[in-house]
Amino acid sequence: MDANATTPLLPDVLASMQPYWIEHFANASSIHQPGQEARRGVDHAREQVAQFLGCRTAEVVFNSGGTEGDNTALRGILCAGDHLITTAIEHSAILTTAAHLEQSGVAVTRVAPLPDGSIDPEAIQAALRPTTRLISVMMANNETGVVQPVEAIGRIAAKAGVPLHLDAVQAAGKVPIRVEEIGCHLLSISAHKMHGPKGVGALFVRRGTQIESLVLGGGHERRRRAGTENVPGIVGFGHAAEIAQKTLADGTMDRLAALRDRLENGLLARIPGCGVNGCGMNGSTAPRVANTANLWFDAVDSEALVIALDLKGLSVSGGSACHSGATEPSHVLLAMGVDKARARASLRFSLLKTATQADVDAVLEIVPTAVERLRALAPALAGVSA
Ligand SMILES: Cc1ncc(COP(=O)(O)O)c(C=O)c1O
Repeated sequence: MDANATTPLLPDVLASMQPYWIEHFANASSIHQPGQEARRGVDHAREQVAQFLGCRTAEVVFNSGGTEGDNTALRGILCAGDHLITTAIEHSAILTTAAHLEQSGVAVTRVAPLPDGSIDPEAIQAALRPTTRLISVMMANNETGVVQPVEAIGRIAAKAGVPLHLDAVQAAGKVPIRVEEIGCHLLSISAHKMHGPKGVGALFVRRGTQIESLVLGGGHERRRRAGTENVPGIVGFGHAAEIAQKTLADGTMDRLAALRDRLENGLLARIPGCGVNGCGMNGSTAPRVANTANLWFDAVDSEALVIALDLKGLSVSGGSACHSGATEPSHVLLAMGVDKARARASLRFSLLKTATQADVDAVLEIVPTAVERLRALAPALAGVSA
């Protein structure tokens, strides 16, 4: 139940990578035949990722993953004196980079979300300045699963003549991504969130976009990202993208959404003093990716609950995975207006696409007992009558 942190390789993805470790191990930049064999693997993967995003192959820049894509989008575009519009609910790959740029003279506006976790396109419009040089918004939030109105934001960006970057790391493989329809100039994705290998990803860079490479060296990736290509990783990523595209059309997401709803409704029915953060609450109709649910459990510390559930073999997250272990409550929930106590009492459940009803029913057995036990251990804190 922690698929938003990472996903396992699919056996087919592993099989596609296998020949590139030992047999076709050559450097894809070498002009000899083994090098060209490795190059063909990279080229094929580039076609698969381009299909997945609806872009040209020349617009796909392979890199090490979402963090690098996000860093490149911001640091490759923005200079002192420029203005960046982003949101308060971005992943730390964006927020930390934005704060770093702020130190060197980039002005940053962090647009707050609505209480349901969605970003109002009008708030983006209102934040525009003559110096705005980039808008960076996540396509789907890693903690709540809320899918942002990226087409509407794309129209605002296009009208203002400002490039739009989307962090689509959590959207990829869960909702279709068509970069032409959105009209974005840059978009980051990461293989390990979509059943591909860790340490590989891609940045879509629209043709004609002026962007500096973060990594300097050889002329790899059309001079946009130097370094010998991770051929097995790229091949696996391409294969994962092709499978993900098929999965988007075969009813898997409807099945997953039904399982997520079963999980959410089951927990709400079984546990007093519990509720859903973000969309789904108060009649909000903000769309969500199919696999994610974020719930609060009054009078329970989420870290203690993560540990209690772990002991029962259930892996969940008390915030974004990158923050687990930290005592700070989720910046996403706080920005949505959730109070600190409730943010500290919230858990994210994110289903793998292979999840079954039996998995969900096991969670419905384990979580209520764990919550009850933790509340019994700290009765003075319990804000609900058990
Ligand atoms: C929304 C979002 N952006 C970026 C990242 C970073 O991606 P990577 O792990 O590939 O560096 C993550 C990972 O959790 C994420 O959820």
